[in-house]
Order: sequence, then structure tokens, then C-alpha cells
Amino acid sequence: MSRIIPKGDIFVLETENTHYVLGVDKSGFSRHIHWGGKCCADDYVIDFNGGESSQNTFLDEISQEYTVFGSTMYRGCALKAEFSDGCREVDLKFLGYDASERELVLKFADSYYPLEVHLCYKVTDGLDIIARHAVIKNNGKDKISFEKLFSAEFTLPSKKPYIFKNTNGSWGSEFIETNNTVEAGSCVFESRRGISGHNNSPYFIAYQNADEKTGDVYFASLAYSGNFKVEASRDAFGTTRVILGMNDFDFDYVLSAGESFATPEVFCGMTQGFGEMTRQMNRFAIDNVFPKPYNKTPLPVLYNSWEATYFNVSSENQCALAELAAEIGVELFVMDDGWFGQRKDDHAGLGDWYVNREKFPNGLTELIEKVNSLGMDFGLWVEPEMVNPDSDLYRAHPDWAYHYPHRDAHELRNQLVLNMTRKDVQEYIFGLLDALLTENNIKFFKWDMNRPLSETGAENLEEPKMLWYLHTKAVYDIVDRLKAKHPDVTIESCSSGGGRSDLGALQHYDMVWTSDNTDGIDRMVIQKGYSLLCPAKAMRAWVTDIEGINKPCSLDFRFAVAMQGSLGVGGNLLKYSKEDMEICKKNIALYKKIRDIVQFGDLYRILDIDRDEVLLNQYVTPDKSRSVAFLLANGTRFYKKRIPVCFMGLDDEARYSLTIQGKTYEKSGAYLKNVGFPLHIRGVDYNEIILIERV
Ligand code: DGJ
Repeated sequence: MSRIIPKGDIFVLETENTHYVLGVDKSGFSRHIHWGGKCCADDYVIDFNGGESSQNTFLDEISQEYTVFGSTMYRGCALKAEFSDGCREVDLKFLGYDASERELVLKFADSYYPLEVHLCYKVTDGLDIIARHAVIKNNGKDKISFEKLFSAEFTLPSKKPYIFKNTNGSWGSEFIETNNTVEAGSCVFESRRGISGHNNSPYFIAYQNADEKTGDVYFASLAYSGNFKVEASRDAFGTTRVILGMNDFDFDYVLSAGESFATPEVFCGMTQGFGEMTRQMNRFAIDNVFPKPYNKTPLPVLYNSWEATYFNVSSENQCALAELAAEIGVELFVMDDGWFGQRKDDHAGLGDWYVNREKFPNGLTELIEKVNSLGMDFGLWVEPEMVNPDSDLYRAHPDWAYHYPHRDAHELRNQLVLNMTRKDVQEYIFGLLDALLTENNIKFFKWDMNRPLSETGAENLEEPKMLWYLHTKAVYDIVDRLKAKHPDVTIESCSSGGGRSDLGALQHYDMVWTSDNTDGIDRMVIQKGYSLLCPAKAMRAWVTDIEGINKPCSLDFRFAVAMQGSLGVGGNLLKYSKEDMEICKKNIALYKKIRDIVQFGDLYRILDIDRDEVLLNQYVTPDKSRSVAFLLANGTRFYKKRIPVCFMGLDDEARYSLTIQGKTYEKSGAYLKNVGFPLHIRGVDYNEIILIERV
């Protein structure tokens, strides 16, 4: 059982397998004491009250839970404020704490100015995940502005350098893993684009000697979809610290008299191995991140028409696709871009969220009724934050796009970003989306976002630099309002593929579109990077007609890749042969049987396509009674070589049946784990889906 154990000035956050220990010292500084294995709670002390020289200051050397800028502290910090009289330093003193069984709030106040800072922690039963955030309060009459307002700070236990796993992707190659050793100075992972973006991920994963199964792994993921910063640094004393939160680049947050602000949450933990990290975060996300009520409902099999018809949508081609989609077993039919305004290509129409009557002379009703009559729900693509200069919206309200009066607004994909911090813009967007949902039987929106912000004038704001945060908040608020009013609607977050795939998005949206790259071969790598800290259920994955740009991969292969998340189909069914349709039917029927295992189970990444030339990902139900494994390879070398195929996560004592390479076995969980099957895995298109069921 996880719990908070207060011990005088020391607080032990006990999780399933770890202790996270913090305290408050005699001077009132928050102090980090321990993060790792459990010890006797009485043994913890704040042991460093260290010496100070003029060049090595006490404040630089100690490890705090949340370091503020000021006095003789010179390294990176979590908070930097400016008071109305120009004082730019904060001096926190301990006020006291509130503790319940699972939550702890440490309260600090500035020694002179009316600022309070609360550090909030919450432990989760059965897991080693702790949720953290900070709350700031302005108890005075004047404004306080914050140049830096991070969510959390961490200190890692070893004095030796850590390796930081993150991603360095781009459009079409999201979530490509990187590993940087931080020996001296700092390493920064960030976004400055207004979205969490395709490049770095808003988290840290720190380790020294770890693999999927073993080794201490420390991690924390920021639940925020806007500009973020993760800064890991190692100081002259060998201490590695990490701060993460909203990026301080071009940042300002102003707290008016009497206001308070809660930073985005951070979910952190310490596990043995990367695999356990993934499994814990996956379980945590299902119960504690995903919006309710669909957090525990399996997502339907979706069809999306984008790659079939692109902008060229019409009532006829969508109805024809819908018939075929229903035939193969699709449950949710989604019409993508092109249905609205004067949208013929990406030059016009964004902002005009009413149906294009040339393409749909009878409105959307005809298509929606057709889709419903085929037994499917209907979903629609929208890109609410955007406007094409060639649109009625822009002609009526050119000032609604971010701009500076004396600068040209920079178009990307021929579009500008709406100033989402304006109330009128928010109401316009909410009103149109609400009307679409009210007037039509629409059960799903794919909310796209196809360019970063630029020329972010935000003249309407007293503090224009707050726009980065306010933009993200406005998006979240509109999504929440739509769902509150239309509780049977789910919404997907998309940003030119995976540009807004983070746990912040997943506190509001029900799923994310992981990448526009639907090549089965590339996708194996993209999905692996995604899976590290993001939940499988939320990962929309389509099977399309991209047969492997560099290496061929069959329709079955592509299904076996896409079935490892929430399955979708995005190919042009109008061109499918009878055999192709049968392959779709067979795989979708299989997916419906196993989707609960994939969407809610524990993932074991057993063989890695890059490292082992073979991918073996296994998903196991929480009660270990059912499991499904995906075994994929695209050209292995050394044809005599046998690959050891073992299965994990099962009950050692229980007996399981499975069929592999055409032979059926009944074996114990221990056998499957320790002995397994040494297999020849050959061919350029090897794909096998193995069901493992308790006998
Ligand atoms: C980018 C998305 O990632 C695609 O799936 C598609 O919806 C296009 N936008 C439509 O313009």
C-alpha cells in the first residue's frame, strides 16, 4: 500500500517498492533526501548542512525539492519571480504541511512578500508513481510575475553521471530514441513551438546501467502539451538534478492580487528496468490520466479516409468507403480533411467549419445516416486552432490570427494560427464545434494542429508572453467543454502526426495520432519510442497502403504492427481486392478478441527490431490469464541462426496453450519464460500473432 509517513520534519512517500524522502531543514529549505529502495523510515536524516566558501555556496550544493532563484544560489532553478517593487529574489520559509494518507502538501511563504509556494505530492496505490506539482499564490495587492515556473525538481542519488533517454524525432519520424550522458553542464530537451512537438519529449528517463528488465531507472513525465523544458545537469560536486515544466523561453506568468496557479502535473517514478517503467506508467495512465468515462472502455476500430481520398472527399466516395469499412468490421468511420468551407487543398477553408455544399449537397446528414445504418459511428476531422487567409473567417476577422502590426505573419502549410487567448476566438471555435455535435450524430472529432505558432503578438493580452500557456489552456478548456456538453463524444489529438502526443493532451483527449508515417517498418521504431512513457490504448495506429517504402511489408504485417495500439484502417478500400478485404476482416476480427489485452494489458518489449532484427512485443492481461505476442521481422541475417523466443509476465505455475510456427504447445509460465522456443525466423515479411491462454 502506498502512503505518506510524516516523521517530524521529514516526509517519507512510500510507494509499492520505493521511498521518496524529503524534508525541511532548520533554515526552512525544502530538502531532497532519498529516492530509491525502501529503508527504515526512522533512519532518514537531513545530513548535509555543509560548509560554504565564497565560491562554493551552501545553496548551490544542497539538493532542494524546488529551488528558487535568489541569494547565493547560482545554478538552474525551478522558480524565478519578480515583485512589483523590482525585487527579483524569492526567500521561502516553511509554513507547515497538510498530509493525508496519500497526499502531502508542503507550504512555504516568502519571508517578506505575499507569495506562497505549495509543493504537492500524491502517491498511488499498487504503483511506484508519484504525482507532483506546485501551486503559487499571490496573497497581496500587487502583481507578481514569474519568469520561470517549473512543475518539479528532482535529484538523482548517484554521484556518477547518468544517461538521459529522450527522443529526437521530426515529422514522420517521431519518438526516435536518444541517449545522452550528462557528465558536466546541462542537457536540455524542449519545445518552443507552442505544442509539445515532434522533436524532444516532455520527460526524463535517467539511468546508468539499465535495460528492459534490470537496473535503476528514474523517470518523470510532464503532463503539458505546450512549450516545455527538461533540463538535466550535473554540478561540480557530482550531483545530477533535473527540473521540468513549462519552458521559460519567452515566458511570463503574471499572478494578480489574490490569484493562485497550479503548474502542470509531473508523474514520476523509480523502477527496475525500462519495461517496468512502461508498465507502471501505462497502468497509472488508465486510472489517473485518461479523461473519464472512457478511460476503461476499449477504443473502437476506426477507419479514416485521409490516405484514401485526401482533400477530395464527397458524399459518394465517403459512402462507398463506409460500406467497405463496415464490411471488414470497422466500428467508427472518420471523414478527414476536406469536407468544409472552400477546402479543395490546403490553401483554403480552415476556419470555415460549415459543410461544403458542392461536395455534400445534402449536408452531412446523408453520409452520417449511411454510416449509422451500416452499424458504425461517425467521426469528423477538424483543425480548430487554424485559419487560412483564404477563408471567410480570416476575411471577417484578420486580427484573430496571431500577428504583429508591422510584421508579415508567416504562413506554414498556407495557414495561420488563431489567437486562442482571445475570448471571442474561443467562443467562435466552441460554438461551431458544439453546433456540429448538436446538429449531427457525430461521436468523434480528430482535432488536428498542423503548424507551430509564430508572430505571437497577442496584443489583446496585458502580458503577451503568457500566450504560450494560455493557448494550450484554451485548447484544453474547449475540449473539456465539448466533452462536458456531449459526453458520448471522444476526441483524438493530432498535430501533423505525433506533434501533440503527451500526457497533458491525454488528460483531455482520449487518444493521440502517433505519426503520419504509416509505413509498417518505420512504425515499429516509432511505436517503440512512443511506448516508453505513453499508453498503448491511446496510440492510434492505422493500417494503410504504404507497403514499406524501403522494404516491402504485407497487409498482414501492417496489421500486426497497428494492432499494438488502438487499431485503425486508413487504406483506400475502394482499391482492395477480395483477398485484401478478407485479410482485413480476419485481422479486425482477431483484434476485437485481443484488444482488451493490448489496450489495458502490460507490455513486455522482449526483442527489439533494431537490436535483435526481430520485434517481439507481448501484452498480458492484469490477471495473467491471457496474452498476445507480436513477432515480426523484416529480413534477418545468418539463416542458420535460431532466435530465442521467450514470453514474460505470465504466472510461473499456471499452464498456457499457444501455437507458434504452426505447432501447438501447452507449457507452464515458467517454461515459457525460461526456456521458450529457439526459432528460425526467416523472410522479409515475417509476422506472427501468438495468443497465449491459461489452460
Ligand atoms: C495531418 C494529419 O496528421 C493527417 O492524418 C491528416 O489529418 C492531415 N493533417 C489532414 O490535413
